[in-house]
Amino acid sequence: MDIRIQSTDIDFQQLIEYSLNSILIIEKEGHILYCNKVCLNLLNVATHEEVLYKSWYRFLHPDFHDVFKERLKRVLEEQEAAELIEQRIIRNDGEFIEIEVMSAPYYLGDEVFAQVIIQDITHRKLAEKLLNEGEKLSAIGQIAASIAHEVKNPLTTVKGFLQLLKESRPHSYLDIMETELEKAFNTLQNLLQVSKPDLDDEPFVPIDICKELASLLFLFQGRLYNVEIEMDAIDSKRLIIGKRNLLLKALFNLIKNALEAVEDKGKIKIEHYFDEGYIHIKVSDTGVGIPEEQLKQLGNPFFSTKNEGTGLGLTQVFATIREHRGTISVQSIVGKGTTFHIKLPLN
Ligand SMILES: Nc1ncnc2c1ncn2[C@@H]1O[C@H](COP(=O)(O)OP(=O)(O)OP(=O)(O)O)[C@@H](O)[C@H]1O
Ligand SMILES: [Mg+2]
Repeated sequence: MDIRIQSTDIDFQQLIEYSLNSILIIEKEGHILYCNKVCLNLLNVATHEEVLYKSWYRFLHPDFHDVFKERLKRVLEEQEAAELIEQRIIRNDGEFIEIEVMSAPYYLGDEVFAQVIIQDITHRKLAEKLLNEGEKLSAIGQIAASIAHEVKNPLTTVKGFLQLLKESRPHSYLDIMETELEKAFNTLQNLLQVSKPDLDDEPFVPIDICKELASLLFLFQGRLYNVEIEMDAIDSKRLIIGKRNLLLKALFNLIKNALEAVEDKGKIKIEHYFDEGYIHIKVSDTGVGIPEEQLKQLGNPFFSTKNEGTGLGLTQVFATIREHRGTISVQSIVGKGTTFHIKLPLN
């Protein structure tokens, strides 16, 4: 190669403008004197005017104001670089973004400013969170699975004797006992399934989600009396490869929750479509909604606000979607309703 360039020929402005990291220059009061293009995207603003000469504290989450002040002082007064740390900013549209930030002195004439370099780590944080949840689930799962096994054996004995008793001396109480026992078995079965989904050696097969959704709704028919169901299924020819029973159970659990959320009257909407390599499934209801502080707890084993709930429904849903390398998100407004949005990769 015979092209050589001198470092003095390089247009650093251009390099910085298109850098992958957000770069800012900040003066001692915290006002922004310069920010590159990526930073505008990060803050979700359209023009430099919305950022320049404004205070950085407007964008930094209040939890980090003191830390930032202390680091800024260190950079400007002691002219030392401030090491990489994690912080959080609030974008123009109110969304929180997790960032990693470092800072170093920047000299211009006689003045010294702080050069701040920021990386958006939202995706990494999300991946870590999913990993932690997965680990938490598997730790709880190991305990739960061993308890479930221990409890199942004596219950099986009780069930056997109950049946013998029913044959020799039938009594209505015995029927009630048997029904209740059946419920306990069901819970144990669910627990075993969600705590050890990997043990489930169900094969991966092609699945027509649209067809399965239609037959699932059929199962709920008796309970749909006052609930209007709207099914909006497009791209129905796209098959995904997955564990059929697990996925059906997950969809069943979501629809069951939606029905329980609308109580007596309301609407449930089920959508299915294909976009950018993923099958999207949305289950929306016009039900009670989920308060903000409970959103974080969704999917935790045994988290339930229902008298009869085991709190394993969403645990099964989350575990199944994870096993299929998909994602699930929730949007909810108390009193208005909830939408669960699943994305499953096609292959
Ligand atoms: N569509 C929804 N609308 C409102 N709240 C919901 C919805 N889906 C889940 N929740 C909340 O999340 C909690 C946990 O749901 P999950 O399905 O795991 O357990 P459950 O429905 O309580 O019991 P189970 O599914 O075992 O019968 C519910 O108790 C409810 O508070
Ligand atoms: Mg449920």
